[in-house]
Amino acid sequence: MEVKSFLDISDQEIDRVNEIFFESSARTHFSSQKKRERFQYKYLDYYKIYHPELFFVLCDPRPIGYICGVPRILKEKKLFELLGHLHAFKDYYEDYPAHLHINLDQECTGKGFGSYLLGYFEAYLREKKLKGVHLVTSPGARNNHFYLKNGYTFTVEKTYKDVPLLFMGKSL
Ligand SMILES: CC(C)(COP(=O)(O)OP(=O)(O)OC[C@H]1O[C@@H](n2cnc3c(N)ncnc32)[C@H](O)[C@@H]1OP(=O)(O)O)[C@@H](O)C(=O)NCCC(=O)NCCS
Repeated sequence: MEVKSFLDISDQEIDRVNEIFFESSARTHFSSQKKRERFQYKYLDYYKIYHPELFFVLCDPRPIGYICGVPRILKEKKLFELLGHLHAFKDYYEDYPAHLHINLDQECTGKGFGSYLLGYFEAYLREKKLKGVHLVTSPGARNNHFYLKNGYTFTVEKTYKDVPLLFMGKSL
């Protein structure tokens, strides 16, 4: 088991990361290829392009999960244009500046790999002197407990365009 930087992985490994992304997503239907690509850009490729240094892949030996994000969300003007719902939580980004996304191969969930990858990501952020980290998920999703048990205990619920959202933050 090894954590690799996105900067060091092969094209084949990138393909597996892309598959894990779609397999983990709640959205399964896209009316066109363009819409599918746009979805991938907003929630995955953006991070590969703008913050590859903060994109880590857990390999055993092939990829079984990944974590990615940005260090200071308030600097990511393009991300706010892509993901309008991020505006809903703007009051909390000073305290929890880093933003993350994590997904595992569904065959590999529930074995502690997600907690390990999250800890790896947080250690990197601490080294960079970031004071907090957050993610946005759906209230009531199974992953809520995963984040809570990993210390994401600052929570705020809001609704954006009739969709309920849950912000979860952790001080580092
Ligand atoms: C959420 C996720 C990253 C957690 O990683 P993990 O290795 O499974 O988690 P750990 O083994 O470290 O911790 C176990 C906890 O994770 C959560 N979990 C386990 N399997 C899960 C799954 N298939 N989906 C969602 N959460 C899951 C549960 O809260 C579990 O705690 P419990 O068994 O006491 O209920 C991983 O399960 C996953 O990728 N799930 C599907 C996609 C997802 O929800 N991604 C996060 C989007 S915000």
